[in-house]
Amino acid sequence: MSAERVKVGISGLDDMLGGGLIPGSICSIIGTYGTGKTTYSLMFVWDGLQKGESVIYISLEEREERIVSYMKQKGWDVDKYLNKSLYVIKLDPTDFNLANNRIKNELPNLISEVNASRVVIDPISLFEDLFETDAIRRQEMYRFVEGLRDKQCTIMMTSETHRDNVFSSRHGLIEYLADTVILLRYVRPSDLTDVHLALEVVKMRMSSHSREIKPYEIEQDQVMVYSEANVF
Ligand SMILES: Nc1ncnc2c1ncn2[C@@H]1O[C@H](COP(=O)(O)OP(=O)(O)OP(=O)(O)O)[C@@H](O)[C@H]1O
Ligand SMILES: [Mg+2]
Repeated sequence: MSAERVKVGISGLDDMLGGGLIPGSICSIIGTYGTGKTTYSLMFVWDGLQKGESVIYISLEEREERIVSYMKQKGWDVDKYLNKSLYVIKLDPTDFNLANNRIKNELPNLISEVNASRVVIDPISLFEDLFETDAIRRQEMYRFVEGLRDKQCTIMMTSETHRDNVFSSRHGLIEYLADTVILLRYVRPSDLTDVHLALEVVKMRMSSHSREIKPYEIEQDQVMVYSEANVF
C-alpha cells in the first residue's frame, strides 16, 4: 500500500498516515506559531525534489530568498533544483486582487505548465484572511479547493490556529475542505519544566490512520516523530 502513497518525508508521520498522503489529495497542517508548519512543508518539498518531482512552494509570509536559505541551512542542495523543478513564489497577502488572481488563476496554470506533482501554500490562513465575510470566504475557498482537485498533484496547505482554539484553523474552514488534517501543538506537562511538541492525525478521508498523539522534535535537517512513544 505504501508505494502508492505520497510521502511527507517524515518517517514517523508517514507511518501514522498508513504510508503517506493519498496522491492528489489535499492535506492541511494546522498549528500555532513555531510548531513547525513551515518545516513540515519543506520536508514534503524536499522528499518530492529528491524523487525527481516538480514542486511549487507558495509562501504568503516569507520572501523567496528566505525559503531557499532555510532549505540550504538544512544542508540541502537546492540550487540544483531551483527554477528547474522547484518554483518558490512569494505572494503579498495585503493586496487582495493580486493575491486572489495569482492563487486562483495563475496557480492552476502553473501547476499544468511545470507538471507539478506537489504544491505547498504556507500559510493558507493569510489568504483566507483576505475575504470580507465568512460566507464569501467559505464559497471562494470551496471553489478554489475544488478547482485544485482537478489537478493531479498532492497539496499541502498550512494554517495558523484560531485565536481562541488551538484545535481549530484560523477560520475553522480548511479542516472541512482538506482530505487530511494534521494538528501540531505544544504540550505543557503539569510540572511545567519544559514544553513538548505533539502531533495528531485528526482526519484522513478514505483511509485508516493512527489516532494517537505523538511527540516530535525539530532538528536541523529533519523532523523526528516518535511514533512509538507516548506524550501523556
Ligand atoms: N534548523 C533548525 N534546527 C533546530 N530547530 C529548528 C530549526 N528550524 C526550526 N526549528 C524549530 O522549529 C520551530 C518552528 O519552525 P517553523 O518556522 O517551521 O514553525 P511555523 O509553525 O512555521 O511558525 P510560524 O507560524 O511562525 O510561521 C522553531 O521555533 C525552532 O524551535
Ligand atoms: Mg511558518
